[in-house]
Amino acid sequence: MTKPTLWLRCETKEFERRAALTPTTAKKLLDAGFEIFVERDEQRIFNDSEYEAVGCTLVENNSWPTAPTSTTIIGLKELQESTDPLPHTHIQFAHCYKNQAGWADVLSRFHRGGGTLYDLEFLNDASGRRVAAFGFHAGFAGAAAGALALSAQRKGEKLGHLQPYENEEAMVTDVKQLLGGSGKGVKALVIGALGRCGRGAVDLFRKIGLAEDDIVKWDLDETAKGGPFEEILDVDIFVNCIYLQHQIPSFVTRHQIMAAGAERQLSVVVDVSCDTTNPFNPIPIYSINTTFSEPTVPVDVGPLNPRLTVISIDHLPTLLPREASEQFSQDLLPSLLEFPDRQTARVWTDAEKLFKEKVEAATASAA
Ligand SMILES: NC(=O)c1ccc[n+]([C@@H]2O[C@H](COP(=O)([O-])OP(=O)(O)OC[C@H]3O[C@@H](n4cnc5c(N)ncnc54)[C@H](O)[C@@H]3O)[C@@H](O)[C@H]2O)c1
Repeated sequence: MTKPTLWLRCETKEFERRAALTPTTAKKLLDAGFEIFVERDEQRIFNDSEYEAVGCTLVENNSWPTAPTSTTIIGLKELQESTDPLPHTHIQFAHCYKNQAGWADVLSRFHRGGGTLYDLEFLNDASGRRVAAFGFHAGFAGAAAGALALSAQRKGEKLGHLQPYENEEAMVTDVKQLLGGSGKGVKALVIGALGRCGRGAVDLFRKIGLAEDDIVKWDLDETAKGGPFEEILDVDIFVNCIYLQHQIPSFVTRHQIMAAGAERQLSVVVDVSCDTTNPFNPIPIYSINTTFSEPTVPVDVGPLNPRLTVISIDHLPTLLPREASEQFSQDLLPSLLEFPDRQTARVWTDAEKLFKEKVEAATASAA
């Protein structure tokens, strides 16, 4: 019997250091009888030698198009734009199932090449929840960025370029040091605190030394009364981590912020949810996504009021590539172990069914 084979491709997006397979998960797959090829990649947070040491076969950077078509290619982000047909099976985030720009072109590449896409965003467990997501580290990194912005603002400065951290310890140490040794005394409010991102944000705040009472944790019960909420103005950092599904009253408004005048404690809003351009964005005080190079955007609060900035970076886990990859890949592992049975394993048959529906929709849209 031929061994199931996975080919970990390099990521071509700028600043993307995360990986879908880590040396740890690759080892577990090898132990289960898989053969694993890994493209050499300078950008990846894990060294090539870490994969080689566990028994993966290293291959040239970006060489997956030359792999036998029976090989399944695994990666995280979108493939480089092209019109080339795709004959392989790919496991990745393709961002082409919600009519995003260029969606039909991407699907047409698979259709023309005879390949299959298993989109990581749509691998769900029996209860419909995603088997693997990056939420926890998005919240963790977002809270860290918020604390860094607070520390800069306290010095009358603006937060500069954010660089990915080698590991969680390096991030926690840096944030604590910039806050003067500990985050003790800082107050934070996390909304969506029971979700993946929310739990990550709370974890970071604990790790940098906030007192438990100073980490206010809200979820559906606490927001049921409807905003805007004065409580948000009484903390230093507000982190929004909700999964927005329908219109809800705003959590905080510019009018409310102006009305609070100089009394306001709130200095930084981190919108992890990043529903920036959604008409129902519950934080309608800013309108752009921020970036690693420009992490904050100021809110117009009037000339005499204390400063307020928003962080709305939509790829926060990249700030902590090692741990984010490790957690994601561990969560994906049980499904990958079922991949050889993908003709019958529910997680994969559901994903393939969805792919076929989307290809059909793309073909119909082109007709
Ligand atoms: N910025 C980034 O880099 C990044 C990365 C990953 C995820 N996200 C986004 O973060 C959001 C949350 O993702 P998640 O994986 O944590 O979702 P999740 O489903 O695990 O958690 C969402 C939480 O929000 C709560 N919630 C929903 N509506 C609420 C409301 N009105 N009031 C209070 N709580 C409410 C839910 O009860 C749940 O606990 C999503 O929009 C996701 O796309 C952003």
